[in-house]
Amino acid sequence: MSLVYAGMCCHAPGITVRPEQADPELLAGLHAAFDQQRQAIEDAGAEVLVMVSSEHFANFFMDNMPTFSMGIADEYESPIENPDWLKVPKVTIPGSPDLSQRIIGQLLETVDISWAQEWKFDHGLAVPLNFLTPEYKMPIIPVNINCQAPPLTPLHRAWALGKALRQAIDAVPEKVALISTGGTSHWPCTPESGKINLEWDKVLVDQLIHKRKDELLDYKFQQTFIDGGAGAGEMRTSICVAAACEETVGEVLFFEPIPVFATTCVIATFFQG
Ligand SMILES: [Fe+2]
Repeated sequence: MSLVYAGMCCHAPGITVRPEQADPELLAGLHAAFDQQRQAIEDAGAEVLVMVSSEHFANFFMDNMPTFSMGIADEYESPIENPDWLKVPKVTIPGSPDLSQRIIGQLLETVDISWAQEWKFDHGLAVPLNFLTPEYKMPIIPVNINCQAPPLTPLHRAWALGKALRQAIDAVPEKVALISTGGTSHWPCTPESGKINLEWDKVLVDQLIHKRKDELLDYKFQQTFIDGGAGAGEMRTSICVAAACEETVGEVLFFEPIPVFATTCVIATFFQG
């Protein structure tokens, strides 16, 4: 049918690894917002969830780093991390290979997207799915943008992928929801881990909600690295999904810095069909 819901959410592993260390009120608010997003996806009648995330070298590595990739598998294992550490269940999640094929076929008209029949979800997908599809019955199509290994995917190419995704999704009969994960400031795997640039995050999320294309595409790699840390490269996922629904103004459901999770946690709606 078409796109029926779009939004962004956070994927910090701390959300499931050490929830007891967070302020209980903030944690309750985050969980409530995830639940609100889950309900919105269900109320929209979504039959498939396309998740645009940033792989953390779990499946794609320096030997062959795709700019964009989409899963085309019957099913996906999750998580690739030790489930006892990540504290999410080890599950097999259904894919939607026929729909993946049709979407990829359309995307390839304008976007050089690779595809993968094997993909083990890392925390970038496993943490949000733990809240958004807790029974793991909804088919998932994973999408990866290279946000980690420079040279990163140019921002305007992430925007172009979002536009192409919308066109492809609107051309299929299925009702599809689209979610990006990650993207606010964080300094993973460094001595600065836990640092948050709240003002920078506020500006970014406001730009995303209002789909301010010119501002979103004007971020420079070096300055973003300084202001938002290496993790801020993940803004590409949300820029992509914002582009897919440029015509609407979104709504922030949750925005709170949670240092023990090492980032500002954000849940937002970008589009409600
Ligand atoms: Fe990440």
